[in-house]
Amino acid sequence: MELINVEDARQAARRRLPRIFFDYIDGGAFGEATLRANRADFDRWRLVQRVLVNPASRDLATTYLGSRHPLPFMLGPVGFLGLYAGRGEQQATQAAHAAGVPLCLSSFSIASIAELRRETAGPLMFQLYILKDRSFCEELLAEAERAGVDTLFLTVDTAITSVRERDVRNGFRSLTKLSPGLLAQFLARPSWFLDLMRNGAPQVRAVSHKPEFGRGVLAQAAALSSRIDQTLSWQDVAWLRGRWKGRLVIKGILAAADALRARDEGADGIVVSNHGGRQLDCASSTIGVLPEIAAALDGSLEILIDGGFRRGSDIVKALALGASGVLLGRAYAFALAAAGTAGVSRIIEALARETDITLALMGLASVDELRAKGAAVLRPA
Ligand SMILES: Cc1cc2nc3c(=O)[nH]c(=O)nc-3n(C[C@H](O)[C@H](O)[C@H](O)COP(=O)(O)O)c2cc1C
Repeated sequence: MELINVEDARQAARRRLPRIFFDYIDGGAFGEATLRANRADFDRWRLVQRVLVNPASRDLATTYLGSRHPLPFMLGPVGFLGLYAGRGEQQATQAAHAAGVPLCLSSFSIASIAELRRETAGPLMFQLYILKDRSFCEELLAEAERAGVDTLFLTVDTAITSVRERDVRNGFRSLTKLSPGLLAQFLARPSWFLDLMRNGAPQVRAVSHKPEFGRGVLAQAAALSSRIDQTLSWQDVAWLRGRWKGRLVIKGILAAADALRARDEGADGIVVSNHGGRQLDCASSTIGVLPEIAAALDGSLEILIDGGFRRGSDIVKALALGASGVLLGRAYAFALAAAGTAGVSRIIEALARETDITLALMGLASVDELRAKGAAVLRPA
């Protein structure tokens, strides 16, 4: 089936993946109110149509995280990509770099940042979870430095892993080895299973040499989540700021006061994020809080955003409301599961085209013009 839009990729992923992994990607915390709000709140804004100023072509390039990028969105950190497709991290990176956009590798990945560096000379970014064992964190930072990572995302909204009820039902994180039921689920998805097995049984590379994290990806995922430091505080941000010389972005900010604190602690940027509705259920949608965070910061800190971005018009709204760029999450994870590198490329293209057509019909010649005009190109619904 042709992937015309992100929902097509989601449906194709549903057909290709075992339920335990589809639900892990698709689901949110508890009653999934924030997951739904992330999507629904884009409808609070309408776009202003302008006519007869038709620019011959549009320029989607813009500047975020210190560089000019051809598209105003990048691939954000999504854990365990290598479970959704064989060599998933490498495939997503290939698609991102073919389009000239960065990818941020999650700490919870099947491939390491060093392995990605062997694949590409393009920009690599890394997302860090701080575990109780700080020496592990040091190892990850050193590896990121060796791989030439210039931007580190510190995720701060997961001190406690929330409850995703679909995962509880499916046994994700409680199953530490393959049960007969799970094996049956896997065998019922033969093309996915063979693709994965061709690349050997997946392991979380960052801990595969550490027996205390268990054997096999399910055990390692459970062990990693249980070791995230639940006492993480602004002191740790200060420590990391001293330790990491590159660009530091704090991911998981939803309150203006926290955005100001991130700036004062020396962060180079924030990601307005509620972890895709996977953490604090009933937290605000990200597009809902973006205006107040942008107003509080008033240009003093770079703002990126993620959460529910499925359409070019969503991206246009966020850029108008003060974001410099958007991180995709599920949109590309589904595409990867559906069709590997080609799937991710297809969805990047589709979102680029939607963004381009949206700008054209708004009479805007470029993303930079959109960002300069800001909220003047929107109307409350
Ligand atoms: C399956 C999955 C795994 C994720 N793993 C991570 C992770 O390891 N680190 C992280 O900072 N965020 C992680 N996130 C959150 C994403 O970076 C991002 O905030 C979220 O997916 C954005 O919402 P969207 O998927 O609706 O676009 C994950 C999200 C999903 C869906």
